[in-house]
Amino acid sequence: LPKEHSLMIEAHELLAKFYHHLLMNTNEGSGALDYLLKRGFTKESIQKFKVGYSLPDWDFAVKFLENRGYSHDLMEKAGLLSVREKDGSYFDRFRDRIMFPLHDSKGRIVAFSARALTEENQPKYLNTPETILFNKSSLLYNYHEARSHIRRQGNVVLFEGFADVISADSADVKNGVAVMGTALTDKHIHLLNRLTNAVTLCFDSDSAGAEAAFRSGQMLIKYGIDTNVVILPDKLDPDDYIRKYGPDKFREHVIGNAQTWMAYKLHYFRKGKNLQNEGEKLSYIERALIEISKLENAVERDLYLRQLSEEFSLSLEALVEQLSQMNISSE
Ligand code: UTP
Ligand code: MN
Ligand code: MN
Ligand code: MN
Ligand code: MN
Repeated sequence: LPKEHSLMIEAHELLAKFYHHLLMNTNEGSGALDYLLKRGFTKESIQKFKVGYSLPDWDFAVKFLENRGYSHDLMEKAGLLSVREKDGSYFDRFRDRIMFPLHDSKGRIVAFSARALTEENQPKYLNTPETILFNKSSLLYNYHEARSHIRRQGNVVLFEGFADVISADSADVKNGVAVMGTALTDKHIHLLNRLTNAVTLCFDSDSAGAEAAFRSGQMLIKYGIDTNVVILPDKLDPDDYIRKYGPDKFREHVIGNAQTWMAYKLHYFRKGKNLQNEGEKLSYIERALIEISKLENAVERDLYLRQLSEEFSLSLEALVEQLSQMNISSE
């Protein structure tokens, strides 16, 4: 590892420790700590995930790093400091925010994501820019901690955000990682595939989350990964759900009842359709038959055909005939 890289990591580790101290033990951090506790974070999980608080000062990190001998230029390359265009002076990138340290797959802190305490303060999460050590599309939040749990359980739960991973962890779902709001990439899948062949998608239940689950599932399936999808109610995200219904319900009824990829696709295709309307109903049935025709397993095909036949009071014979025509035309 080049000297510069290890200095960058050192600086992150020192700052993370200090941000955590500010959050836990100081007056300056007490507002941020209150915010987290009110949201339902426990002190235990704040400690485990080394969550911190950055002061509102423009030059706290500038001085902190300067005093410890790290050059401004290198710290700017590491994404910790920014430069003023007008005079080339440096200032803190992260100010008055909740600090989430981001670890690489070796467990070294290489970046931060920093959450605003109020709605007015945008963006909600300010991240380290792309650096030599940090690339958002090849890092999964909590990968280094979840790794052994993923191996042992033979499954990984994929979330959208930090709060989801942390709440799930305190609900004893310790095999969770997050994509941090970006699209799932081939690099992410490669990281997961080293540990397991089974992924449970647990995204926010808003329309962005549903789209992301669909796109992510399509990618995972291409890699031959066994994919299941959790469908949460009422536009909740996993963190909201755990606050509202508790950890036991989340574990048993939600993670435990994840939909198969096929069942999720059917759910996805019927979303927003009015099935009382003949045209929309027929187009959904057609779509469902296309998906059924792609199934390689005859028993599975039979299962979904029967479901479709019961749900829409159609004869199995008619569906089977339609299906066989589709197979012929796709050959
Ligand atoms: P969400 O908007 O779902 O946030 O974005 P959240 O995780 O539920 O956050 P809370 O509960 O409001 O604190 C999902 C993820 O997308 C990334 C973050 O990683 C976030 O956890 N994101 C979101 C950003 O990087 N920047 C943003 O401005 C917003
Ligand atoms: Mn552990
Ligand atoms: Mn979201
Ligand atoms: Mn969310
Ligand atoms: Mn949330």
